[in-house]
Amino acid sequence: MREYTPEEVGVALIKANAAQTKWAALSKHDRADVLARWAGLLREKADELATLVMREVGKTFADARKEVLRSAEYIEYTNHEYLHQDLVTMPGDNYSRDYRNKMAMVQRTPLGLVLAISPFNYPVNLSISKISPALVTGNAVIFKPATQGALSGAMVADLLYEAGLDRDLMPVITGRGSVIGDALTSHPLIDMISFTGSTDVGKHISQLAGAVPLVLEMGGKDAALILDADKVEAAVDEIVKGGFGYSAQRCTAIKRIIVLDDLYPAVAAGLTEKVGELTVGSPEDDAVIVPLISEQSADFVEGLIQDALQKGAKALCGGGRKGNLIEPTVLTDITKEMRIYYEEPFGPVVPILSVRDVQEAIETANDSPYGLQCSIFHSDIDKALAIANHIEVGSVQINGRTERGPDNLPFLGVKNSGFGVQGGSPSI
Ligand code: G3H
Repeated sequence: MREYTPEEVGVALIKANAAQTKWAALSKHDRADVLARWAGLLREKADELATLVMREVGKTFADARKEVLRSAEYIEYTNHEYLHQDLVTMPGDNYSRDYRNKMAMVQRTPLGLVLAISPFNYPVNLSISKISPALVTGNAVIFKPATQGALSGAMVADLLYEAGLDRDLMPVITGRGSVIGDALTSHPLIDMISFTGSTDVGKHISQLAGAVPLVLEMGGKDAALILDADKVEAAVDEIVKGGFGYSAQRCTAIKRIIVLDDLYPAVAAGLTEKVGELTVGSPEDDAVIVPLISEQSADFVEGLIQDALQKGAKALCGGGRKGNLIEPTVLTDITKEMRIYYEEPFGPVVPILSVRDVQEAIETANDSPYGLQCSIFHSDIDKALAIANHIEVGSVQINGRTERGPDNLPFLGVKNSGFGVQGGSPSI
């Protein structure tokens, strides 16, 4: 895959700008039709694209196929939302009798060029969830897939061209962020940036971007709060799925378990048993725990585990590494001096923290630079809702694991997890 130079980036943006004018002049239905054909092609080619995703970013075929189908649904949902959106009029008389003769008609117009920067872990879905709302509303998209994930991103784009989209309207800009990233994000033709990736890169983008709207989906340190004996079993099941699937290479993976002291023995025993049953190996063999995306990522996660063990943590299970494969690991006896307390691993290691009472559980959950999601396990829904109101995150899941979907729901983070809201209607 070729690497763009900053000069070539500039040329692609000028062409996209010209193409956008024609695209925005089409009827809403004409634009939505192209995207609907794209959704159809994604379904048709789901197996082929899923195989590529599996090989490129090391996700199981089943998960990759789900990702492709989820993306086709997202396109269709977004089209539907857009085509059924009525615009409002606002009579000035609502405000004051002095404005009886004034009225506003609210219109939505395209921004122009939307820069979509997607991450490696969902090379199809987290590309499409940026591209589809931007295109249907009449914008051009400058698509910068992650380097690991660029082949899948290129296939996503090829299917869109096959569906009838002018290539100039959505150039796929490939290359290292260190070479072209700044040229892209600070280019005066860019009118909006939608980014998913690390907090460091997101903050760097926000410094360069200038006065354009930003949607940043960055890191997370999602906590699962287990606060009720009746929910221990269900919580353990959800945590094992939400904390370890795809080796936890998801911003919404459960990355801390916060449990009341008296529930700790049951939670620790349940987790040790269930995590020990997880399949470890190759994505091609449908393993839950797969090698991390790079040696650098595995070094980082191993470093977090070693740091904790050296400072007195104990591994209830796991702790080892083979190549880029990190064993599913649950750590206990955690202190704030350990890096794992605050840092996001993006790998299969989860610390358990035990707390005296609900108040301490809330304080511990909020003691994080991140604020993406949180799970609360409690059989009293009123109590769970009351606790949820004190947690500093974008979304709280009650009696379920942290996750983004379904994709019509608003998805957002606070603190270092980002800003701006994604999801079917909010993205439009
Ligand atoms: O990695 C960040 C993704 O937005 C997480 O999405 O909850 O569907 O895995 P997910």
